Amino acid sequence: MADKLIIFDTTLRDGEQSPGASMTKDEKIRIAKQLERLKVDVIEAGFAAASPGDFESIKAISATIKDSIICSLSRANDRDIARAAEALQAAQRKRIHTFIATSPLHMEKKLRMSPDQVLEQAIQAVRYARNFTDDVEFSPEDGSRSEMDFLCRVIEAVIKEGATTINFADTVGYGVPELYGTMLKNLRERIPNSDKAIWSVHCHNDLGMAVANSLAGVMIGGARQIECTINGLGERAGNTALEEIVMAVRTRKDYFNLELGIDATQIVPASKLVSQITGFAVQPNKAVVGANAFAHASGIHQDGILKARDTYEIMRAEDVGWSANKIVLGKLSGRNAFKQRLDELGITLESEADVNGAFARFKELADRKSEIFDEDILALVSDEEQANDNEAYHFVSLAQHSETGEMPAAKVVFSNQGKEISCEGIGNGPVDAIVNAIESKVASGAELLLFSVNAITTGTQSQGEVTMRLSKSGRIVNGVGADPDIVVASAKAYLSALNKLESKSEKLNPQI
Ligand code: KIV
Ligand code: ZN
Repeated sequence: MADKLIIFDTTLRDGEQSPGASMTKDEKIRIAKQLERLKVDVIEAGFAAASPGDFESIKAISATIKDSIICSLSRANDRDIARAAEALQAAQRKRIHTFIATSPLHMEKKLRMSPDQVLEQAIQAVRYARNFTDDVEFSPEDGSRSEMDFLCRVIEAVIKEGATTINFADTVGYGVPELYGTMLKNLRERIPNSDKAIWSVHCHNDLGMAVANSLAGVMIGGARQIECTINGLGERAGNTALEEIVMAVRTRKDYFNLELGIDATQIVPASKLVSQITGFAVQPNKAVVGANAFAHASGIHQDGILKARDTYEIMRAEDVGWSANKIVLGKLSGRNAFKQRLDELGITLESEADVNGAFARFKELADRKSEIFDEDILALVSDEEQANDNEAYHFVSLAQHSETGEMPAAKVVFSNQGKEISCEGIGNGPVDAIVNAIESKVASGAELLLFSVNAITTGTQSQGEVTMRLSKSGRIVNGVGADPDIVVASAKAYLSALNKLESKSEKLNPQI
């Protein structure tokens, strides 16, 4: 019988470490529910000791998700581990994931600890974590740049203490498939009790090899768990992309011969949700989830596809959840039809008041846009959730004038803690004008690092989804806004980014 390959999703933890990708508790719950529909085996819901926000999110996810194992990251100390255990209390199945760096560089320069001290701390951490759960994962951080003899000592000792998963981390994306896979194989062969744990891979994509390294870890090294994120989101160049791993293993079952528990038809909805919530757009030529992944432009390819689909297609778009943009609702649809579509999309709004709020937004949108697609519904639910998040700033209205040869001008009305504020500004372009208008009242002084617009469905009727990334005093946040008018979407995105900048939650990065 084929072995099972465990899919460990870390979108909510390592993915959230991407600059600007921080998510609210409600956003994390929505993503966790989608990950459950996708049937991932393990959801790393966060790093409990990082901030009160992370703690609360893990707690809420633990109470909500029934099918996947819920995991919290923790550094190798009692305080972090106890915090992780507390956040995970309500989970039906829980895992504590503890880690400490083992490479000479990290031990000497970052931790300022001797190898013996690191070994002792790793042992203590696993021993302590076992008081709370039988499911304990240990990661030697920067494992791929660690010395073999030392790694063997540490891993043998933590398995003896009861670590049930060993995660060989390629923290800085330094690995090369053959070398990474072989190092893992050697570890498993040299460590006498290696068969007492499941081996896992965790690869970063700095050299574009995260997926290749992970698969080499499986095929050469014998790993049976892959840590990955939706859309490959993650620190710096990101992590191993879940969708690429799943479809590689499924499409090339002849080679990998591994079983997966994943429902692949939930991949594209998961990709869209994560992209929409974090503001990280998916590049069109991205494997599996990019808009062009199944588009055949050349005449020869189109001709071939029409004659026999498998001439140029190795996967079917519908198998990963692509559907032609379906008109799902329109101006005449009622509240029940709207609520039913929310249910079908797996969206549960907390109260009837929230459903009413989202329905009012839907009616308003349907007045301006005759065809409403699933993507529109996802965007308006996000808008409604932002409105309910006790955020300071809310968009109210906008008037904007642009004419060739004249300086664009904008008048924006927004509310701050319920009080309406009207402001005016001019700028080099319409977006500059609205930002200047808002800044004339808010004076945040934030720097705009990125501005991007994407059509969320096809056709000129589509809503534009704008992402604005702001930076202030070392903090980076992404704001997202959607509207059929892209200048309005820009104003919404700017206010959403300001709200995130104002939220006080300071977060610890586990790896610092
Ligand atoms: O990249 C890394 O080393 C990590 C560990 C915490 C597993 O994310
Ligand atoms: Zn990582």
